[in-house]
Amino acid sequence: MAPLLETRGLTAFYGDFQALFGIDVAIDRGETIAIIGANGAGKSTFLRVICGLLGAEPDRVRHRDEAIGGLPANRIVARGIAMVLEGRRLFASLSVEENLRMGADVGRKGPWSLERLYRLFPILAERRRASPATLSGGQQQMAAIGRALMTNPDVLLCDEVSLGLAPVVIRELYAALPAIRAEGTAIVVVEQDINQALQVADRVYCFMEGRVTLTGTPKALSREQIRAAYFGM
Ligand SMILES: Nc1ncnc2c1ncn2[C@@H]1O[C@H](COP(=O)(O)OP(=O)(O)OP(=O)(O)O)[C@@H](O)[C@H]1O
Ligand SMILES: [Mg+2]
Repeated sequence: MAPLLETRGLTAFYGDFQALFGIDVAIDRGETIAIIGANGAGKSTFLRVICGLLGAEPDRVRHRDEAIGGLPANRIVARGIAMVLEGRRLFASLSVEENLRMGADVGRKGPWSLERLYRLFPILAERRRASPATLSGGQQQMAAIGRALMTNPDVLLCDEVSLGLAPVVIRELYAALPAIRAEGTAIVVVEQDINQALQVADRVYCFMEGRVTLTGTPKALSREQIRAAYFGM
């Protein structure tokens, strides 16, 4: 059977600048993969292409065995691929709950509702009427993940959800992943913290300068291999 989501020889460009050089990644239903790599390795670019913010040849990105490369972002979300953007991007003029409801506007059926989400992140229920601007960084990240889940995705893409957060808050966020994958959702986390990535992922991909330099299960990869793939030394 074809993977749930797959890229084949994926390239990406910003004008004349080539950021990705033939990325092959495959994700099955319910699987969690982590993408690690240094600054500028192409991790965010990879997610941007998948969620339709950057162009691609149709067949370079396949979802449920259909070519989706280059589809507009709204079509990608409607298919069940949701992205938690770097920097959270909540609407400060709307309440937390209104932000969450925007995810539901996509109109996909599935396990996630406001009620279910508030059970996952009880603090969001408490703060439902507040502006996201008044939330802590960790709470904003919960709201951003929540909004993505409200689209009932089968693939959840998360770009550096732990960036700038305290360790205790990061643990709280990552503690939500099992409940999400239990719904059969595949998760892609981009993570600078290698230990965090190795802890949560079924498989890890290391990117360097727009290429995959290493892939495998956390168990199968040695520290030395990861260091070499990450830094190229
Ligand atoms: N909007 C853009 N215009 C031009 N070049 C870009 C743009 N965004 C990223 N790049 C370049 O593309 C390459 C990959 O960047 P990308 O943001 O995907 O890396 P990253 O792995 O997510 O890094 P970081 O860990 O810093 O978030 C880098 O060389 C970066 O300078
Ligand atoms: Mg990035």
